[in-house]
Amino acid sequence: MRTRLRGYLSEDELRLIRAFDVVGDIAIVKLPEHLLPKKHIIGKALMEVQKNVRVVLNQLSPVKGEFRTRELEVIAGENRTETIYRESGCAFKVDLAKVYFSPRLATERLRIAKMVKPGETVVNLFAGVGSYSIIIAKQGKAALIYSIDINPHAFEYMQTNIRINKVGDRVIAILGDAREVVERELAGKADRVLMPLPELSHNFFDVALKALKPTGGIIHFYDYGEEPDIFGPSIDFVKTEASKKRFEAKMLGARKIRSYATRCYHIALDLELKSAE
Ligand SMILES: C[S@@+](CC[C@H](N)C(=O)[O-])C[C@H]1O[C@@H](n2cnc3c(N)ncnc32)[C@H](O)[C@@H]1O
Repeated sequence: MRTRLRGYLSEDELRLIRAFDVVGDIAIVKLPEHLLPKKHIIGKALMEVQKNVRVVLNQLSPVKGEFRTRELEVIAGENRTETIYRESGCAFKVDLAKVYFSPRLATERLRIAKMVKPGETVVNLFAGVGSYSIIIAKQGKAALIYSIDINPHAFEYMQTNIRINKVGDRVIAILGDAREVVERELAGKADRVLMPLPELSHNFFDVALKALKPTGGIIHFYDYGEEPDIFGPSIDFVKTEASKKRFEAKMLGARKIRSYATRCYHIALDLELKSAE
């Protein structure tokens, strides 16, 4: 793409076009403000180079708000934000302007799916369009995966994706606030709880504990960690909060998922909780 754009952009400007994501047949770029007058040229160049791309979107805002969505504008190709994305043998219909979706979590989704044991009941507190839940179901071991999301668009796409992937016998989509849903119908049911929303994981850790069976289970806790002690504060938090609810938390694993900002990482803690009573 750089070669194609060389006649239109300066070397400095070319350096500013950062790596872009491709979701299905849509590419997403984040153009700095001073490149916006050239956005259509850049979008067309990207389509010429990436033959499978039919739409190029420019991301105008960071991921934000309760639904974790972002503002997007079409800068080349067809006028749409909906696409079908494939990952780990599953297909996901998503509207990138209406729901959260990141292809960068593919490795993490498959890692979690492979940890699920036969017959487990899983509760996914922040399920989005159902990506973790459906990949878990496709691995074929979990008995039931309750999948909660508060965004009505994510809930609708989750229902569609459950149909497309034929996992309606195992994945149950629930629209609502995870705290209210767990208190109303899922307390004490889960062998495993997923918390794939780092911004809320501290506020909802008590909800994850409540969803676990009384004897305990596994929680996948997502957070942000900063160098030099990337995992320490999160580990301290979960151990303290678990003991307040009479659970003992044992660390099964801690990993960096991706770099988030300078010296800051999106991290995952795999925790085994056992009732201390
Ligand atoms: C980072 S996304 C995770 C999406 C999904 N796990 C994935 O990998 O594609 C977080 C999701 O949590 C949902 N959410 C935010 N607050 C919530 C709440 N209180 N209860 C349930 N879902 C919530 C958002 O709508 C969003 O879809």
